[in-house]
Amino acid sequence: MAHQRLALQPLRHCQRSLVAHTHPRLLSTTAPRSSSSSSSSSSSSSPNQPPESQTASSQPPPTPKKKKPLTPAQRSFLSSALRVNQAGELAATLIYTAQTPPVVAREPHLRPLMRHMYEQEAGHLRTFEALVARHRVRPTALYPLWSALAAGLGWTTGVMSREAAMACTEAVETEIGGHYNGQIRTLLEMVAGWEAEGYDVGDEFRDLIATLRRIRDEELEHLDHAIEHDAKKAQPHWLLTGIIRAGCRGAIWVSERV
Ligand SMILES: [Fe+2]
Ligand SMILES: [Fe+2]
Repeated sequence: MAHQRLALQPLRHCQRSLVAHTHPRLLSTTAPRSSSSSSSSSSSSSPNQPPESQTASSQPPPTPKKKKPLTPAQRSFLSSALRVNQAGELAATLIYTAQTPPVVAREPHLRPLMRHMYEQEAGHLRTFEALVARHRVRPTALYPLWSALAAGLGWTTGVMSREAAMACTEAVETEIGGHYNGQIRTLLEMVAGWEAEGYDVGDEFRDLIATLRRIRDEELEHLDHAIEHDAKKAQPHWLLTGIIRAGCRGAIWVSERV
């Protein structure tokens, strides 16, 4: 059910600057070199060659597809996407770090679940930290603020109740799942455009889309866990999730820009 709801959410990401880089696809800022190096010697036929050899040498080798340089808007999109994802995953790890002690103190049987979700968030954070470093993307300037707010949110909801902690996860993952869906949709549109124009998409872009899909699915798995553990029973559920979802949207909007 959660997947269906998220799939219907509209694309809503606009972005800004990307710094210079050297990677062949995500970071490409210059027109790629044409690989269609024609060879006059290989294409010229000799009267002494047998007929079949002349036929083979007259066929030009297949020309590898070129990669299309990123537009400034596409580079800006990628820069802000990596920046906001890194910030969001840091916040997620801090929420679980702060939530786990009070939640597990009351309900020790939840320790494996809390650890599982934390470890997946830590893996997401490592993924985006590596991408941010590789592509020299500036981290959000509000890193310290998001860190403090995330830890405070985790501790507060963890102390309130198990249901409140799960409602926090429900709210956060609903927003983050939609956020990743929007990024995936934008990347797929870029890929479709390149393919329609006959350009090579490259492995790095395909890998990035696969990574985002995997992480999106893990976030939605967390959402399902939260629902299974009574997130809807938090009181008042509508207010708690409404505030947290609005906060997530605000943090995403700001982190994409600052
Ligand atoms: Fe995550
Ligand atoms: Fe998550």
